[in-house]
This record gives sequence, C-alpha cells and structure tokens, in this order.
Amino acid sequence: MKTEQLNQIQSWVEGYVDGFRQAPADLPPPLALKLDHTRHVAENAREIARELEWAPEDVRMAEALGWLHDVGRFSQFAEFGHLHDASSVNHGLRGFEIVRDSGLLAPLPVVCRTSLLEGIRHHNAKTIPETISPAGLPFLKLIRDADKLDIYRVVAEEIERDGFQELAGLWPHIELRGPVNPRLLREIRTRRDIDIRHVRSLADFLLLQAFWIYDLHYAPTRVRIRRRHVLETIGNHLPDDPAARKILDEIRNYLRDGAERKPGDAASSIRTDPDE
Ligand SMILES: [Fe+2]
Repeated sequence: MKTEQLNQIQSWVEGYVDGFRQAPADLPPPLALKLDHTRHVAENAREIARELEWAPEDVRMAEALGWLHDVGRFSQFAEFGHLHDASSVNHGLRGFEIVRDSGLLAPLPVVCRTSLLEGIRHHNAKTIPETISPAGLPFLKLIRDADKLDIYRVVAEEIERDGFQELAGLWPHIELRGPVNPRLLREIRTRRDIDIRHVRSLADFLLLQAFWIYDLHYAPTRVRIRRRHVLETIGNHLPDDPAARKILDEIRNYLRDGAERKPGDAASSIRTDPDE
C-alpha cells in the first residue's frame, strides 16, 4: 500500500465518523471513545509491524486496518444505542459490509483489498477462521493484537476514571460488584472456549481480559503488555479470590516466559504491494 492510499483511508474514516456527530464537534461519548480507540489501534498496529520489521508497504497496510477495523461500531450505536454485539449486530461484519460497499478499497490490488476486508470482518471473531487467505493472516493476527492492546488501555483508564461505571452502563448484563463466576474460572483454568454469557461481573470481565494474553500473536505486543503493567492493574481490581489470583499468577508466568520472539513473528513473507 502506498502512503497516499493510507492517507486516503484515514481521511475516509474521519469523514465517515463526522456523519455521526450531533453537532460539529460532538460525538456521543461512546463513539468519541471508539474514535479515540481507532486512532490508538492504528498507531499500535503501525508500531508493532515496524518492530516486526515488516516491509514499509505492509506497515502501511497494518495501520490502514487499524483505521478501518471498528467502522461498524458507529452505525451499530446509531441504530441500537449500545455496543453489545450479541443483542444487536456483529460489528466486524457490519464494518466489513460498510467498507466493501463504499468503494473505498477499489483502487487497491485484490490481495490488499481481501486482506483488509478479512481483517475487519474477523478482528473480533472468537477464533481465527481457517478460511483466511495466507496473505491476510498476518494482518488479521496483528489487528487482533493491536486491538486488544488498546482495549487494555481503555479499561485501565475507565477503571481509574469512574470505577468502570460509564462503560458498564453500555453492557447492562454486567454487575459491577459481583463475584467471580466459578464457571468462568473453570473455563479459564482449562483454557477452554469461554462462554461470554459467563461474564457477569467486572471481576469476570477483568479475568477474561487477562485470559486474552494467551491469544496474543506477536512478541512486541506481549512486551508492551508487560511494560504497561496490564496484569498489575487487573490484579489491583480483582476481588480477593484465591482461585482468581492463582490464574493471574499463571498468566503472569506465561507472559514472562513468552515475551521473546517466535518464528512466526518474522517479517511478513506476503509483500502485498511492493511500491518502493
Ligand atoms: Fe472491534
């Protein structure tokens, strides 16, 4: 992807979001948060890709995917008044449809277009589908890492700001002061698929966030998680539940041992669009 193509994508996203402003400077708070998140994810994606020594055109693809990944959030909120996928729409699918139908990606080579659309579509999927194209896979892994990394920032800031009250208001099924759900603990301990319906309290939500660490793909992401003391923040806000503490310790050990690079991190072999 060329620099001007990346710039065009960024401008398109900003213009698209402007359509959801109630007054010239005014986005509804959850959408202002999402726009801010989008900027951070684009930055995370660029930085992680650079650190992985990806080719410059692939670094720009990674950043573009950061800009695009949550486009579906805006019409989701406008239509349903909340951001809870299970009771509205899958925002990855929504974003995929919006970008696909917009014509924005038409000037790009097919392989770039496919990779970006797959990345938007599946950035929030529970697991990576086996049908992903080989060229799209590194970008999908990267956006999932960059997205999680910023969600950790948002959660930490929201906890500091108001004890998570405003965000919890957007997920009516979450009880702020509820205990850890033993069924969720069991799923985490055995590293089984998490049933999202078992996340019922802020403590459950924080444990789920800690569990995501097992799902990170790239060493630079894990290093950032350590540097930003994400697990310490989560630990500070968990109830004193010995089973939950034990799980947190296990994840901390995993993170300490797993911060080094893995063979799959190597510079992408995909070279989507060499233009320099
Ligand atoms: Fe998302």
